[in-house]
Amino acid sequence: MRVAVIGSGYVGLVTGACLARLGNSVTCVDNNPAKIEGLRRGRLPIYEPGLEELVQEGSDRGLLHFTTDLPAGIQNSQVVFIAVGTPSLPSGDPDLRYVEAVAREIGQHLDEQYRVIVNKSTVPIGSGDWVRMLILDGAAEAAKQRLSSLEAGPVEGSEGDPDKTTSRGGGVLTLEKARWVPQFDVVSNPEFLREGSAIHDTFNPDRIVVGSDSPRAIAILRELYEPILNRQGGLSGDPVPWVVTDLASAEMIKYAANAFLATKISFINEIANICERTGADVTQVAEGIGLDKRIGRAFLNAGLGWGGSCFPKDLAALIRTAADYGYEARLLRAAVEVNQEQRQRLVEKLQQVLKVLKGKTIGLLGLTFKPNTDDLRDAPSLALIEHLHKLGAKVKAYDPVVSASGMREGLSHVVVETDVLRLAEGCDALVLVTEWQEFQSLDYGHLASLMRRPLLIDARNCLDRQALRQTGMTVLGVGW
Ligand SMILES: NC(=O)c1ccc[n+]([C@@H]2O[C@H](COP(=O)([O-])OP(=O)(O)OC[C@H]3O[C@@H](n4cnc5c(N)ncnc54)[C@H](O)[C@@H]3O)[C@@H](O)[C@H]2O)c1
Repeated sequence: MRVAVIGSGYVGLVTGACLARLGNSVTCVDNNPAKIEGLRRGRLPIYEPGLEELVQEGSDRGLLHFTTDLPAGIQNSQVVFIAVGTPSLPSGDPDLRYVEAVAREIGQHLDEQYRVIVNKSTVPIGSGDWVRMLILDGAAEAAKQRLSSLEAGPVEGSEGDPDKTTSRGGGVLTLEKARWVPQFDVVSNPEFLREGSAIHDTFNPDRIVVGSDSPRAIAILRELYEPILNRQGGLSGDPVPWVVTDLASAEMIKYAANAFLATKISFINEIANICERTGADVTQVAEGIGLDKRIGRAFLNAGLGWGGSCFPKDLAALIRTAADYGYEARLLRAAVEVNQEQRQRLVEKLQQVLKVLKGKTIGLLGLTFKPNTDDLRDAPSLALIEHLHKLGAKVKAYDPVVSASGMREGLSHVVVETDVLRLAEGCDALVLVTEWQEFQSLDYGHLASLMRRPLLIDARNCLDRQALRQTGMTVLGVGW
């Protein structure tokens, strides 16, 4: 199938590369020329395990193309995915200007061919109809331009036929053509991939959700996703559930899933805070409750709380949507509050041991919001750095990807070290912020010898605390 993906970020690029792997001809469009130029040369704008190889493979097979030219991208494409960003505005509402611009532009360049426009960007409930309206607006603008060029009068070669003129593209345009209404359907197809395992998640989703009232559009998407749904083309395992809903429900499924997962993390963090006061150990509690099938062990890791490009903005958006419809989402508000306070609690833990933080040096192990990504959007490390900086502490950090890439965008008030030994030198405390695999096997005894004070806070409860204590480190965690 011929597919266009508008927006070549974490979601768009992974979607495009995976669909190309399955044999589709995919054009990835982005309005950032540097990004597209890099992709054409095989340089990826993001860090995602396995993606570089997949992009290379797609390009080598002639199935994956990159362009800044949206009209060219959607030409001949039967399915057009919208995968542009929807970041949070200060009000908590998602910033929909990128979706709006793309929807209008798609409308301006649709032709007679039927297309399925798939919204993969996370957008508030009701946005599917809004996107449809914007596409129609774009198409109406284009039709108006065509009609005004007709009114300019007949052109050479069309004498005697007042309904003919040349189109902007140079072809002969008839009145009928100028007035045609585009044939398309809008489908919501929320994305559930996790950064760090995005390719695996795309090929092995727990379910694929499509929201639409158009059987034609649903049938086309079913065909596109068939290899994933029915484990073809080298994919193994059980068939993947295909969930068809109305547009609004598909949009809500995305928000509800993220709200549930974020609330689950805030729940275990609240339990952790009670554990600390009562002498219980949250890691044992999580095992004990996680074995209950009704609860499940996933997302029960107490720590610094959630961050990243999705949970914070999606919860804020859902709370705003609820308020717009006269409902106060108190449970979700509480989940957000617990999450924000979790960073503050970590600073208090440092204060309890180190007392005055002014003039102290704190080293952060990890900066990204989770391992195996370079994404710093709403990372807990950023809030921690700000808190510590305000209190007069010097903050240093080492992150496997950020340190190696030299990327410093969005980072201030922190010295990014190139290796973990330089990080430990002179520190009054180390805080493990992101549970990167390589932090499991560090020589903590050696790190302790380089520090001013051998204090380690494992803010993700991911290290073996008994083994660590034997290295001479004082170890604290979350919820024990
Ligand atoms: N990142 C995730 O893990 C994840 C998971 C599920 C859903 N989502 C949702 O998917 C959407 C995309 O997220 P992302 O993380 O990939 O964002 P991103 O910021 O990484 O990528 C968005 C891309 O869109 C491009 N873009 C913006 N305006 C454009 C335009 N007019 N024409 C062409 N390209 C344009 C940007 O240059 C950028 O490359 C968001 O709505 C997000 O909430 C993200």
